[in-house]
Amino acid sequence: MTLPIAPTDPNAWSPSRPPRPAYTGAEEGGFAYPTVIRRWPVIVVDVINAVLARDASDPAVHAEGSKVIARLSALKYELTRMRPASVEAFSSSADLDDESKDAKGDVHQELEQFNAFWKAAIQEHFPRHSFLSASWLFSECMLYARIHAAVNSQPTWRGYDVFLGDKKKGFRDLNDKVLRIAETHQGLMSNLQIHELTQTDFKRHLHDLFLLSLWGNATDLSMFAGLSANEIEAMRAGASGEENILSNHLPEILDYIATSPRFAQVPNARVDFILDNSGFELFSDLLLADFLHQTRRVDLTVFHCKTIPWFVSDTLPTDVEWLLRALEDPASFFSPGGAEEMSPVGVAALQSLAARCRGYLASGAWRVTADPVWCTFWAHHHLKTEAAALFDEWKRESALCIFKGDLNYRKLVYDCKWESTVAFREAIGAVAELPAVVSLRTNKSDPIVGLAEGVEGRLLAEGNKDWRWSGKLAVIEFCKNDS
Ligand code: F6P
Ligand code: MG
Repeated sequence: MTLPIAPTDPNAWSPSRPPRPAYTGAEEGGFAYPTVIRRWPVIVVDVINAVLARDASDPAVHAEGSKVIARLSALKYELTRMRPASVEAFSSSADLDDESKDAKGDVHQELEQFNAFWKAAIQEHFPRHSFLSASWLFSECMLYARIHAAVNSQPTWRGYDVFLGDKKKGFRDLNDKVLRIAETHQGLMSNLQIHELTQTDFKRHLHDLFLLSLWGNATDLSMFAGLSANEIEAMRAGASGEENILSNHLPEILDYIATSPRFAQVPNARVDFILDNSGFELFSDLLLADFLHQTRRVDLTVFHCKTIPWFVSDTLPTDVEWLLRALEDPASFFSPGGAEEMSPVGVAALQSLAARCRGYLASGAWRVTADPVWCTFWAHHHLKTEAAALFDEWKRESALCIFKGDLNYRKLVYDCKWESTVAFREAIGAVAELPAVVSLRTNKSDPIVGLAEGVEGRLLAEGNKDWRWSGKLAVIEFCKNDS
């Protein structure tokens, strides 16, 4: 990993010098404090349980699993202590003898680079800070980096996704909903002369798919560690549609896609999804992309995934693959013992969707990619200079970058204490230079921008104390660059 540690421009915003004061776990009153104190320890315990649950009939896996658990236990202990976050914990070689180092070759080198990156980043930005006192964004990214370093410190655990079971279960739990939505979507795909839709109908369907993709974000598993997807759904009851969207640029987005020459120049209209969660949210994103391709507004969609297990449910390329297999063979995935009867229409709808997805991938109309930059502490403002190749490619080629979810929103707005009425365009810094940017985010953390005067006051006057992070409210924000 050759990612930079510090901003190229020394006067630029940086993790320890954000444009507004950062949120930290040490400060009570917001969501960072309960997150660090209560939610993170639960997440680490869940990871320990996942390690214990792996079938370790191989004695080496078992023995090394104990070493992974020791590292995770040290992490859990450290989370809530006011002492500098451990730099030494980012080491892998201690447990590797020369033989296994050689055997692992590139993988080992990648891990060494990963650890070196994090050691240097801590020393550069928060050398004397604990998980509580460093900025919340830096700490939370460091948490998942530490989990990765712990699991991968042992040769037989390299590449093991400790969150995979939860991700699959989350999707399986939503079986009924998935089938219902697939049937409706298939009805739309097969009954309409889809490429002859009127502008009004095109926008109506697009509107519904954007909302589905937005509220699909409510199913993230890092927020509700330990709850099933059904329980999360029940908590979310009533949170959907548009009445709960505090800043809603959807009409402008629909106009842009329906009328901008950037979408009329097929071939060549490209959309990028900077993905968030796997399972149901990814399913909803695929439906949106499918519609854009079937209606011939877009002929290239690039899906950007994480490279390592991240924030519990975030999408890895392997998560795209198991999802597609689940759609291809829903009976085996959703009802392994054949216990549940599945609607044949729903099953056929899922299989048609899967076949189209496979077709897009085979033809190159869809690309699934992953970049280590998504698994760092960098706010997206820095993509321009610290991931310049990708940023320039977007500038040249992408008509729309859709950033999914809460973490991407935090990274877009530098995860700091902006006044809630500051314009989205201002808060996203250099990202505003891209042709067009959308954020679809259910609110699960403190930062928020782009609200009209009076909105924050009204929510507080109504006694809505957790409006910033309850996950029941959302924003759809948009920034278009006409130059
Ligand atoms: O604290 C809630 C939280 O875990 C945030 O830390 C994080 O931003 C978010 O949930 C993850 O949500 P999403 O999957 O929408 O990015
Ligand atoms: Mg996520």
